[in-house]
Amino acid sequence: MSDSSFLYNLWYVAAAGTQVERGKTLAKTILGQDVLLGRDKNGMVFALRDFCPHRGIPLRYGKFDGENVECCYHGWCFNTAGQCTKIPSLLPDDTTDISRIKTPSYPCHEVDGNIWVFIPPPKTKPPEQLPDVPSAPVAMRAGYFHVDSVVFPCALDHAVIGLMDPSHGPFVHASWWWRSRRSMHVKQKQFAPYGLGFQMVRHAPSSNSRAYKILGGQRSTEITFQLPGLRTEHIMIGDRHVVLLTALTPIDEQRTELHQFMYTDIGFINALRPLLTRFGKAFIRQDLDIVIKQQEGLKGGNPTLMLLGDSDAQALWYYKLKKDYLESQANGVPFVNRIPEKLLRWQS
Ligand code: FES
Ligand SMILES: [Fe+2]
Repeated sequence: MSDSSFLYNLWYVAAAGTQVERGKTLAKTILGQDVLLGRDKNGMVFALRDFCPHRGIPLRYGKFDGENVECCYHGWCFNTAGQCTKIPSLLPDDTTDISRIKTPSYPCHEVDGNIWVFIPPPKTKPPEQLPDVPSAPVAMRAGYFHVDSVVFPCALDHAVIGLMDPSHGPFVHASWWWRSRRSMHVKQKQFAPYGLGFQMVRHAPSSNSRAYKILGGQRSTEITFQLPGLRTEHIMIGDRHVVLLTALTPIDEQRTELHQFMYTDIGFINALRPLLTRFGKAFIRQDLDIVIKQQEGLKGGNPTLMLLGDSDAQALWYYKLKKDYLESQANGVPFVNRIPEKLLRWQS
């Protein structure tokens, strides 16, 4: 069922802003493309193709002085837009126009604390008009924290489906601080199309989530999923917010990086940061363990799997969105969201 085709011409979270210091670079692979992320001496982020056009050595092995990346092989230098700025072997009177030598750069922005990179198909340029970088539902730069980034040894599809799947909670995430299997009950949630995906419309949170109970106040939650693999949970307590952003970024066909972020303008939740980070990491670890076990079962082929009932409806929607997106890209026409408005019912 897993389809290997990547979704190009979209923004992907490449890293948490805190992972790339000023004057430093960080090498990543995104959708199979080697990308050198960096932050210049003024704090601006950039992304270059991690490849020296001279002899092809990755630029990550070179040096960055906050303005130029110097290739480790013959010392050619490239600025943060990818333009060659120096070729040490050329004599001062050489007339070669080195500004025509480039390594491609990727559109790159830091939004809500995260570094986003726009990935076009291999060996193509990004379109002139770029979509907006996805942003958090409320502006809360102050209460930002990066919970974790973890590599899942699976294709994006399995990671997304694991993320969307509402029925594994009582089995995989059973723990004293979240929920137990005994607390399973009927859930009924309204869904609606939204952007490049769908939304579980705002509702009172599930009463069997102990973590919610300690928050008090009038609580409501809205969960949004959008291509390529972005899940946003927006919890409101009175007029205050907690936003959980999970971003899935394919490294290649077999590995997907999960980035988990949290934002809040609630002081005491922010104060609980170390504890919440520990819970968050434990939660992600539970999903990772399942993916590792699942890969054991999937190895040696692409067996037919099942998507069954309302609890798997979101997974089916994901495949539908993905297919429609790929078709829109192949035909050069705008994407049309065909997700229905629907009430889904399941037990978890
Ligand atoms: S390979 Fe990079 S400078 Fe020669
Ligand atoms: Fe999970």
